[in-house]
Amino acid sequence: MKRSVLLLLMALLPAAVFAEESIQPIERPKHLDAAKVELGKQLFFDARLSLSGWISCNSCHNLSRGGTDNLVSSIGHGWAQGPINAPTVLNSGYNVAQFWDGRAADLKAQAGGPIANPGEMASTHELAVTVLQTIPGYVKQFEKVYGKGPVTIDHATDAIAEFERTLVTPDSRFDLWLKGDKRALTAQELAGYELFKVTGCIGCHNGPAVGGGTLQRMGSFNPYKTNNPSLGVAGISGQSSDRFRFKVPILRNIELTAPYFHDGAAKTLEEAVDTMVWVQLNRHFTTTGRDKVVAFLKTLTGKQPDFALPQLPPSGPDTPAPQPFADKPFADN
Ligand code: HEC
Ligand code: HEC
Repeated sequence: MKRSVLLLLMALLPAAVFAEESIQPIERPKHLDAAKVELGKQLFFDARLSLSGWISCNSCHNLSRGGTDNLVSSIGHGWAQGPINAPTVLNSGYNVAQFWDGRAADLKAQAGGPIANPGEMASTHELAVTVLQTIPGYVKQFEKVYGKGPVTIDHATDAIAEFERTLVTPDSRFDLWLKGDKRALTAQELAGYELFKVTGCIGCHNGPAVGGGTLQRMGSFNPYKTNNPSLGVAGISGQSSDRFRFKVPILRNIELTAPYFHDGAAKTLEEAVDTMVWVQLNRHFTTTGRDKVVAFLKTLTGKQPDFALPQLPPSGPDTPAPQPFADKPFADN
């Protein structure tokens, strides 16, 4: 009897090991609409959604560079310097809310923002819709996905969000280890994971995305010093208790997305980890300990999105011309 219980326990072991870990493997999404994903992919790469005709979502969330621009803060329309570091779009469907301060509820709500942001793509939703409506290849695709009727910004952001849901990065070495391949990690990387857990990093950076689940104060124990004026959640709520509360970033693919923090101040992962353990946990790592944690973090790099570059439908005779040097859209557009 005892023996059979033991055997049963052993059979359940892989599942039990998962359950014990606060990080779960990331999986490819199911039940996505293929035509919608394809349309969203084209829109993600289409700079005609910007006033200049030059800036696309991919300009700042470069899918060849971990879904970021690797700049301290992004460059928008007219070479405008952005106020904050661009987070990755990879795995962003796992975020509890979008933006550093969580002000957009989900990916669809987020996607309308940059198009009409004067410091980013500098268009308007009306102009973006006019552009799409005058490109016959888009009209056809919108009708296929959303039925007959005019193109709307709602449909465009819905399609972009569907595409973004495909931007997950499974099969990192850490996930292979979680799934039972004990040789997937080196002793140093495994020791780094142990430190990540016992030191308390995992209290905030957990779940399948290793973050993205909560909004937390930057500087829980020791103040974080920055010249960046962003107040985090307090910028929306006006509550002083929300000062410096930011969305806990996703640590998947973190090796690819330097520089780090909302102000882009940490150039390297080593620097970011040293800052975190001090401001969030009131501790210091030895150099060896920190290197272990960094080695662990690098095992979180997964398979990057891999698809043929989308071919964008050509503009029609009535498609508004790009205005790369205008401050804002001309009135007659
Ligand atoms: C000019 C650069 C730029 C462009 C263009 C741009 N973004 Fe962003 N994106 C940013 C920055 C900067 C942030 C962070 C802003 C903040 O938190 O206040 C961001 C945030 C996001 C987020 C939230 C991620 C998170 O972890 O909170 C998503 C998703 C996103 N952008 C998708 C898009 C999509 C889709 C487009 C195209 C419609 C786009 N972006 C265009 C710079 C850009
Ligand atoms: C109390 C919650 C909390 C704890 C504990 C915590 N973090 Fe963070 N972490 C955050 C928040 C919030 C940010 C974003 C801060 C900012 O940008 O101002 C962040 C940012 C980071 C970043 C930069 C991510 C990026 O994309 O810019 C890294 C790397 C990181 N943490 C690693 C760690 C490590 C390693 C530990 C343990 C030593 C740790 N964190 C402990 C909440 C936490």
